[in-house]
Amino acid sequence: MEFFNSRFANSFGFFLGLVLLIASNALLSFANAKAHHHDFVIQATPVKRLCKTHNTITVNGMYPGPTLEVNNGDTLVVKVTNKARYNVTIHWHGVRQMRTAWADGPEFVTQCPIRPGMSYTYRFTIQGQEGTLWWHAHSSWLRATVYGALIIHPKEGSSYPFPKPKRETPILLGEWWDANPIDVVRQATRTGAAPNISDAYTINGQPGDLYNCSSQDTVVVPIDSGETNLLRVINAGLNQPLFFTIANHQFTVVGADASYLKPFTTSVIMLGPGQTTDVLIKGDQPPSRYYLAARAYASAPSAPFDNTTTTAILEYKSAPCPAKKGLSIRPVMPQLPAFNDTATVTAFTKKFRSPQKVEVPTDIDESLFFTVGLGLNNCPRNFGSSRCQGPNGTRFTASMNNVSFVLPSNFSLLQAHHHGIPGVFTTDFPANPPFKFDYTGNVSRSLWQPVPGTKLYKLEYGSRVQIVLQDTSIFTPENHPIHIHGYDFYIIAEGFGNFNPKTDTSKFNLVDPPLRNTVGVPVGGWAVIRFVADNPGVWLMHCHLDVHITWGLAMAFLVENGVTELEKLEAPPLDYPVC
Ligand code: C2O
Repeated sequence: MEFFNSRFANSFGFFLGLVLLIASNALLSFANAKAHHHDFVIQATPVKRLCKTHNTITVNGMYPGPTLEVNNGDTLVVKVTNKARYNVTIHWHGVRQMRTAWADGPEFVTQCPIRPGMSYTYRFTIQGQEGTLWWHAHSSWLRATVYGALIIHPKEGSSYPFPKPKRETPILLGEWWDANPIDVVRQATRTGAAPNISDAYTINGQPGDLYNCSSQDTVVVPIDSGETNLLRVINAGLNQPLFFTIANHQFTVVGADASYLKPFTTSVIMLGPGQTTDVLIKGDQPPSRYYLAARAYASAPSAPFDNTTTTAILEYKSAPCPAKKGLSIRPVMPQLPAFNDTATVTAFTKKFRSPQKVEVPTDIDESLFFTVGLGLNNCPRNFGSSRCQGPNGTRFTASMNNVSFVLPSNFSLLQAHHHGIPGVFTTDFPANPPFKFDYTGNVSRSLWQPVPGTKLYKLEYGSRVQIVLQDTSIFTPENHPIHIHGYDFYIIAEGFGNFNPKTDTSKFNLVDPPLRNTVGVPVGGWAVIRFVADNPGVWLMHCHLDVHITWGLAMAFLVENGVTELEKLEAPPLDYPVC
């Protein structure tokens, strides 16, 4: 009896232990974030678009590249192997990279490029961000074809702040050249002229029905009557802000740049390159086929741009069969705003609000004023006229606060900072423009030529920063999508003309401004942003039009370490590429 009892007690104890073990394991995996391992092989792959096949640089032979899906709190480990003939790096656009600046990716800023034949493993954790981001090459113009979506689902066990959508579809807007994009930028750098405009826009890599040799591959986005679906729209284009709309359907905007928004409805959205927008659409129209379409928002008066339209098809599952006896019903085509419809852009951006009251930094430690704009360099004496094919025998350039950013070539800025290597950069980037002038008026020609330099701006850990970004009308005013690496920032105000601290401060939204990583500075206008410098490292800030980075529309912040270990940059990874 006793024997039996103790046996029973023992086995009961064992059983109880097992239950507890399983339960605690479940709890652990519930609370513990996952690590996702991926291999990215950068390689040339034949890709046929617009009737012609190009040897396109891709990730794993895919164009666009693979979609990565994680939960908020997860870790990504991506081994990038370069089997192409160009240097490459990958940037995780919008990921905050807390203490892991080594994994951020911009070439010569946070790392030297991965040389052909070499590899580098990016390791980072996504914390406190939910929604849509993306990844792209950050070396020359490789991001024309080397890009993909990075989807961040809510933390395991939590949900969206809106009803769970039936389907989720990433919509990557891109730009396609019927040429090697690297040749396009190289030619521009040689001649000093503006690079050739693209030949097509794309939706998930496909130009769609309005281009030659393309309609057989037009992307189809499924929907069913009564469904509410989430579209994760990304402007992965190189140089063009884009309008995006769907015939007969309204969007409910619920997020942008991996931060939620107070929902609002609109029939058209605009995204600058780099920006993402999450929208809900409802299957509330007669079951049929409707075009999704994107085309340029071209804010610079009289600058050439690609004026074509890319389409995909929103198809109701119960729609009548499209192709009986070769007869196909043409999908309904939407109206898109005029190319220069700045009023629509302004009305759209004004609707952006954080879902609740947010903690906007006040008591600003660093009040900065940066001009952003183009310029023209006089032809250097030793250059022939073939190398000065910009307007009136000049060469195009661009700058912030009159400094045209030059990347180093022997070390990355982060490496030089971390190891104290002298002579790579200086920390005298000006807090204000060196000359005050009527920025958006008729600017004297003598102010058109900026000074080249590798100048950083030092920020103490934890400092509260405000930046007024002021467009200039040098050569032409233009909407500049300004992106900061390693940070999200609140956009507290926007306006036209020159920022006036006396009258414009009263327009600041310090209650519920939107949190983004890329702000479209209005054409001939300004935007004011705020953030807390809580992430140590070297962080590039630049216009996300690649043509403008090429010309120097960039600078970098050097954010110093804080006091505690958790406020300091981590040690560099062992496989960190050297120059
Ligand atoms: Cu989308 Cu410098 O980045």
